[in-house]
Amino acid sequence: MITLADVRVEFPGGVRALDGVSFRLEPGSFTVLLGRSGSGKSTMLRLCNGLQAPSAGTVAIDGRGILRSQAEWRRHRLATGMVFQSHQLLPRWTALDNTLVGSIGRRPLLAGLLPPPRQEVEMALDALDRVGLADKARTRVDHLSGGERQRVGIARALVQRPVLILADEPVASLDPATAEQVLDLLRGICRQDQLTALVSLHQVELARRTADRVVALARGRIVFDGGPTDLSEDTTTGIYQRPHLADRQPEGDPALIGA
Ligand SMILES: Nc1ncnc2c1ncn2[C@@H]1O[C@H](COP(=O)(O)OP(=O)(O)OP(=O)(O)O)[C@@H](O)[C@H]1O
Ligand SMILES: [Mg+2]
Repeated sequence: MITLADVRVEFPGGVRALDGVSFRLEPGSFTVLLGRSGSGKSTMLRLCNGLQAPSAGTVAIDGRGILRSQAEWRRHRLATGMVFQSHQLLPRWTALDNTLVGSIGRRPLLAGLLPPPRQEVEMALDALDRVGLADKARTRVDHLSGGERQRVGIARALVQRPVLILADEPVASLDPATAEQVLDLLRGICRQDQLTALVSLHQVELARRTADRVVALARGRIVFDGGPTDLSEDTTTGIYQRPHLADRQPEGDPALIGA
């Protein structure tokens, strides 16, 4: 789906957010990104939708190759559903109107100013039904709970008819039980619709529960890439508690990749 080849992202001041990352996001896979704060997860997600350009290396999209222009990235983004931690919904708008925002990109430019066609409204209602919010379609989102808002965010991504979902800490602001429910919902939809997903999380347990594949970053490098069952306690400790992990060879833990 997406291939990063030896990608480096450097910000002014010399911060290397990503440092020689090579990674292929396999079509149909639900891949979870783990790593300490500042390890480069959001930067990696932003590379995958062209909101961040690599300082070195390449990002290629299956069937399209290396995208050169903003117009090509826009086309890619139309088929990419984004889900964020902080909802990014319009608080005074209803769940339905927020969901409909996802379909605006598919309509001709000025048609975005007109009331949406019946067919789009039906698709949005259907998406809200899939996330369990059929009865809240006409409720303003500032009257919804955090978990419900996050479901609206997922519904909005679904009406784009995406082939790819990029989710940056989609359940970070939710209590543990709700986080589990919302992530299971997203996971179930991706499986049902055969979507490819790259999802950053801070909860290792949720990664174990939902991921086909787990990729962990430390200081901008991939330090683990494996199945959720390879994610042992030692490996997890390595990912989170050894800040200089990327600088040395792992000792006695074959699941960790020395960078
Ligand atoms: N626009 C920017 N300008 C300068 N430095 C940046 C910028 N964006 C990110 N960084 C730096 O790049 C590094 C990686 O940031 P990134 O946001 O990718 O981390 P993250 O893994 O998503 O962290 P978190 O778990 O806290 O969201 C950090 O050191 C961060 O300060
Ligand atoms: Mg982040």
